Amino acid sequence: MAGISTGPMAGKTVLVTGGTGGIGKATAARLAAMGARVGITGRDIARTRAVAAEIAAASGNPAVDPFPADMSSQAEVRRLAGEVLAAYPRLDVLVNNVGGFWATRRLTADGLERTFAVNHLAPFLFTCLLTGRLKASAPARIVTVSSGAHAAGKIDFGDLQGERRYSGQRAYSQSKLANILFTYELARRLDGTGVTATVLHPGVVRSGFAAEDPSPMLKLFLPLIRLFLKTPEKGAATSIYLASSPEVEGVTGTYFADSKPRASSPASRDTAAAARLWQISLDLVARTA
Ligand SMILES: NC(=O)c1ccc[n+]([C@@H]2O[C@H](COP(=O)([O-])OP(=O)(O)OC[C@H]3O[C@@H](n4cnc5c(N)ncnc54)[C@H](OP(=O)(O)O)[C@@H]3O)[C@@H](O)[C@H]2O)c1
Repeated sequence: MAGISTGPMAGKTVLVTGGTGGIGKATAARLAAMGARVGITGRDIARTRAVAAEIAAASGNPAVDPFPADMSSQAEVRRLAGEVLAAYPRLDVLVNNVGGFWATRRLTADGLERTFAVNHLAPFLFTCLLTGRLKASAPARIVTVSSGAHAAGKIDFGDLQGERRYSGQRAYSQSKLANILFTYELARRLDGTGVTATVLHPGVVRSGFAAEDPSPMLKLFLPLIRLFLKTPEKGAATSIYLASSPEVEGVTGTYFADSKPRASSPASRDTAAAARLWQISLDLVARTA
């Protein structure tokens, strides 16, 4: 079943990762209100179900589906993809929104550094697993939420997982640069398939961002600047635009902010680095296949 029968997204099916809070929840809510069938992911079963029900009630669109999964685990990403493929015979839009900042270095169940695993490898693997369904549903879109923080990022191929040196900010900026390298490489690989790949900076948004494990600096400054930040609804605007607007039909391999194409950093346009990161990512997910 698609979403409700009216609205600009009627008949479309959309999956938003990290749809239980912040920017992802606002994205899912708006796309549901526009008539799409919408799936959301989140780590906690009860919260994911409750938010799906809340979005359904608020949007008047009953077609909002909870997909609980902890995407820091590759086994969970594989299970999640299997459930999405079983539930959705077509998939028009994938919004790779899950991501976070963690001040402390932690390892995931797969023994990988958490920021790299959640912010980059999870959307990499999830997208690879869903690409066949997106191609079969073309024209389709893959929208990935990066950050302006990518501009400070460097892909440290010698220490991708911060084993020698870790800082939350470095790991975060690297992962958000990886989101853009991934998107540009994906766009090249999907050329001619009718599936587009775009990437965006949502702005600085009042959300649950960094709340789990903030750095001392964020702990100090976030409460002071919180009121001046974008609401999640405003922060979701570019994701919603890229997921739904006819204006960006066919637009691929492009970075956006404020619903406008923008230049991303020189490092993000390094095609050799993008190809190298793609191969390393494939190797890292192959270990759990
Ligand atoms: N906020 C900003 O100022 C800002 C700026 C630039 C870019 N961004 C990017 O925007 C995206 C969304 O961030 P946000 O600010 O909306 O953060 P948020 O409020 O913390 O929301 C994060 C979402 O991801 C889910 N999530 C976190 N870890 C997960 C995991 N391991 N598996 C599955 N789901 C997980 C959370 O769900 P549960 O907690 O229910 O699991 C929640 O739905 C991120 O990619 C972030 O890097 C944010």
